[in-house]
Amino acid sequence: MAAKTKTVFYCQNCGAQSPKWIGNCPACGEWNTYVEEVIETRKAEKGWEKSTDKNNRTAKPVKVKEISRKNEDRVILQDGELNRVLGGGIVNGSLILLGGDPGIGKSTLMLQLGLNYKHGKVLYVSGEESEQQIKMRSERIGITNDECYILCETLTKSIFLQIAEIQPDLVIIDSIQTVHTQKIESSPGSISQIRECASEFLRYAKETSTPVVLIGHITKEGNIAGPKILEHMVDTVLQFEGDRNHVYRIVRAIKNRFGSTPELGIYEMAGDGLREVANPSKVLLSDRDENLSGSAVSATVEGLRPLMVETQALVSTAVYGTPQRSATGFDTRRMNMLLAVLEKRCGFRLGQKDVFLNITGGIRVDDPAIDLGVICAILSSSEDIPVPSDSCFAAEVGLSGEIRPVNRIEARISEAEKLGFGRIFISSYNKGINPGKFSIKVLQVSKVEEVFRELFG
Ligand code: TYD
Ligand code: MG
Repeated sequence: MAAKTKTVFYCQNCGAQSPKWIGNCPACGEWNTYVEEVIETRKAEKGWEKSTDKNNRTAKPVKVKEISRKNEDRVILQDGELNRVLGGGIVNGSLILLGGDPGIGKSTLMLQLGLNYKHGKVLYVSGEESEQQIKMRSERIGITNDECYILCETLTKSIFLQIAEIQPDLVIIDSIQTVHTQKIESSPGSISQIRECASEFLRYAKETSTPVVLIGHITKEGNIAGPKILEHMVDTVLQFEGDRNHVYRIVRAIKNRFGSTPELGIYEMAGDGLREVANPSKVLLSDRDENLSGSAVSATVEGLRPLMVETQALVSTAVYGTPQRSATGFDTRRMNMLLAVLEKRCGFRLGQKDVFLNITGGIRVDDPAIDLGVICAILSSSEDIPVPSDSCFAAEVGLSGEIRPVNRIEARISEAEKLGFGRIFISSYNKGINPGKFSIKVLQVSKVEEVFRELFG
C-alpha cells in the first residue's frame, strides 16, 4: 500500500505540533522543545480501529435520562488505599494513568492489583520485563490468581488480538512508553507514538467499558514523559511518589474525573510487595526522639484524611560566606519566606545561618498548615531547646507574622488527640470551634511571638 511520508515537529512539553521547527512554542511558551518526528500515515487499517469500525458505526445523540448508569459502576478493589485514591473503586471504562520515578514500585503495585483482582480476568501487558521476571515478582508477592494473564508484547495490534481472545475485565499496560502502533512509523516512546497508543486504549476502554491502566515514566522535571496531552486524555492521573530510600510510598490522584477530593494512599514497601498503611500518622511519628531540638509535629490534611507529620530542622552557623538553605519534602521558597518573617517580624538573626529542613518519612507536604510547625522546628534548633513532645501545630503563617486559620481544623485536632498529643496550637481566627469538645488542649494564637513565649519561655 502506498505510504504517505510526513514530518511533523512536536513540542515535547505540551504536545503542540507544527509543520516546521520553531524555537519558542506558541502554545506553552517553552524554548527549544520542538523535535522532528517522521510519521508515515497509511490508511487506517491497523490496530483497534479496523476491528470495531467495520460497519461504520457512528454515535447517536441520546437523552440524558435515557442513558443507563450501569457502565459507570465501580469495582471495589481489595486494596483500600487504591479505592480511596480512585474515589471509591475503579470505574468501568475508565482510563487511568499511573506515573512515577523508575524503581518506585509501579509495576509491583499494578501486578498486585492484578493478582488481587476478584472481579474477573486481568490482562497484564508488559513491554519491560520477561515472563520469568514477572513470575519471580509474583512469587515474591506471594499471591496466585488463575484469572491473571501475563502478556509480554509491545505492538498494540497484537495486544488487541489477545484482548479479543481473552476478553479481560481489567487491562494493565506496563508501560505506555514501550508499546507502539504500526499506524505511525516513529519509534516507541516518541510523542506521536505515545499519543496514538493512548488513544487506541482510550477508544477500547470506552467502547467496551473495560478499565485500562497505563503505567507511565516520569521525566527529570517530574512530568509524565510524553506530552501533557496524555494527562488530558485519561480520566484519572495517579502519581506514585516517595523516596526510594524510604519504605513509604504515596499514591496521589492529580486528576480524577470520578472523585471529588485529591486523596492520598500510603504504602510500605516490604519484602513481599506493597503493604497498605492503615494508620499513617502513627507510622510517620513512630521513631521520634523526644528530647532532641529541631523537631516539631504538624497536623496536615491530605484529601479528606488528616495526617500528622514531623518536621526536622537544623540551623547552624554558615561555614562559607553564603548561607545554605535547603528543604526536603517542603517548598524551599516557602521556607525562605518563613525565614524572612522570622527575621523581619520576630527579630531572630538567621541571616548568617545555614538552614536545613526535612519532612520525615520521605513524604512531600504542600499544605500551608505546616508553616507554624516549620517555624517552631527552625527556632527550636536555633535556640537548641526541644519543642515539648506533647505539642503539635496546625496553622499557616502570614507575611506579617500573623497566624492564619486553616481548613478542616476539627479533623486535625481530632487526629492529634487520637495520637495522644496534649496540646495543639491553632489560629485564633479559626472561628466556630468548641475547644471544650476535645480532651486535647486547644491553644488559639494570633502572633508567632505568643507561640514562642508559650514554648520556649
Ligand atoms: P518496580 O515495581 O519494578 O518499580 P517500577 O515499575 O516503578 O520501576 O520496583 C520495585 C522496587 O521495589 C525494586 O527496587 C525492588 C523493590 N521490591 C521490594 O522491595 N519488595 C517487593 O516485594 C518487590 C516486588 C519489589
Ligand atoms: Mg516497572
